Amino acid sequence: MSEGATKKEEKPRKFQAIRGTRDLLPPETALWNRVEQTAHEVFATFGFGEIRLPIFEPTELFARAVGGETDIVSKEMYTFQNPTGLAAMVRENGMLGTLAEMSPESELISLRPEATASVCRAYIEHGMHALPQPVKLYYMGPMFRRERPQKGRYRQFYQIGAEVLGGTDAPAIDAEVIEMVMTFFAKLELQGVELDINSIGCRDCRTKYVELLRAELLKVKDKLGADSQRRIVTNPLRVLDSKLESEQPIIEKLPRIADHLCKDCATHYAAVKRQLELRGVIYRESWRLVRGLDYYMRTTFEITAAGLGSQNAVCGGGRYDGLVELLGGPPTKGIGFAIGEDRLILSLQESGKAPAPQGRDVYIAWMGEKAHATAIRAAKDLRAAGFSVELPPIEQKFGKALGQADKLGARYALILGDNEVSEGLWTLKTLADGSQQKLTEPDLLQFLREQKPVSS
Ligand code: HAM
Repeated sequence: MSEGATKKEEKPRKFQAIRGTRDLLPPETALWNRVEQTAHEVFATFGFGEIRLPIFEPTELFARAVGGETDIVSKEMYTFQNPTGLAAMVRENGMLGTLAEMSPESELISLRPEATASVCRAYIEHGMHALPQPVKLYYMGPMFRRERPQKGRYRQFYQIGAEVLGGTDAPAIDAEVIEMVMTFFAKLELQGVELDINSIGCRDCRTKYVELLRAELLKVKDKLGADSQRRIVTNPLRVLDSKLESEQPIIEKLPRIADHLCKDCATHYAAVKRQLELRGVIYRESWRLVRGLDYYMRTTFEITAAGLGSQNAVCGGGRYDGLVELLGGPPTKGIGFAIGEDRLILSLQESGKAPAPQGRDVYIAWMGEKAHATAIRAAKDLRAAGFSVELPPIEQKFGKALGQADKLGARYALILGDNEVSEGLWTLKTLADGSQQKLTEPDLLQFLREQKPVSS
């Protein structure tokens, strides 16, 4: 092999984040933290406690809960053979594959595409039905779906979600859960928030409606696109979700579920609307809102926000009575939602509601060994008081240090040289207007303490 070829081979690969994943960097992460902190605060005022869940679960959990025929489960999950225990031993020792297949350790596992299934699994696993009901939980963290990436749609994305499990299916619970999301969005000053609600009935009335819908769709099958034609067989409700221009006039003429709800579902839906009104929550009814996960019944809802283009759903949720039972637990009522945090952040940024990038409160420009010791002490004091302080690790000329302080967006530069240290008078420069003042250490610290740290 020639020398040139060897060199080419040795050139290190340039790694990049995998398609559909991304790094979140400062200063944007400050906004993520603010959003999450606000969620902790608002959800706590509604009596919710945080649950932290595993990132992966048995594939079967999602297949059962979300539905094996849904896009999420059938096309979008990241699934692996669990490589622990006997299966790993078998692989390493080159033993027969059939042995690995027999091992319970070798089951398929998937990165979670959503968290409602995991919350229900945890509710059952920890016997939470024995706690005072309902149990109110919230979570935040990454989810994984192999969708086609675009603005607001990622393969690793983040959700903030909440679930109410157990107790009654009182419509006040549906309304309060929705009120909680709306309160959270209002606190963040999210713009253009619109809430769509619907009821998709129960197993009885929905089954009858789906049959009626299928019959009507078959009559117009030839006018529908390939996706919708397929869905007449697999899941007629999803046809209502279609965005295809040519299908819109046809869909508008289809029977509507609101006219086919059973008495109990109709009463429940009317009461949810009344409860929303009591809470001053403004909603729009949307009979085509069916959601893409199988576990829903009765109340479904979606929230859109400004500045998001086609991926404008910032929150989706609904009632899922019976899901806990489907996963092997006792009959249990359930309702919840998940917010797409990436989209929430995008919308806040687009509407200028993101806070300005955070600079430093104080840049300490020091010169000389004595001044360095004093600077270290001053940094410690100021940081303890909650200020964000930049302390250069090596000596810099004052001119360079002040330039650096400017670039970092510092509010003040604390100038410490030999003179300052020996006189006991420190120089504080306000970078916005260039003014300077000389203060004793206690006065200067007192002066700064009276200012609000930018980091607060
Ligand atoms: P979902 O509608 O599949 O519902 O997702 C909720 C929200 O997550 C969406 O409205 C969207 O904002 C965000 N989202 C979904 N996929 C992506 C993606 N690929 N990239 C960025 N954001 C995305 C659920 O996940 C249910 N577990 C919600 C729920 C909780 N229902 C009851 N409890």
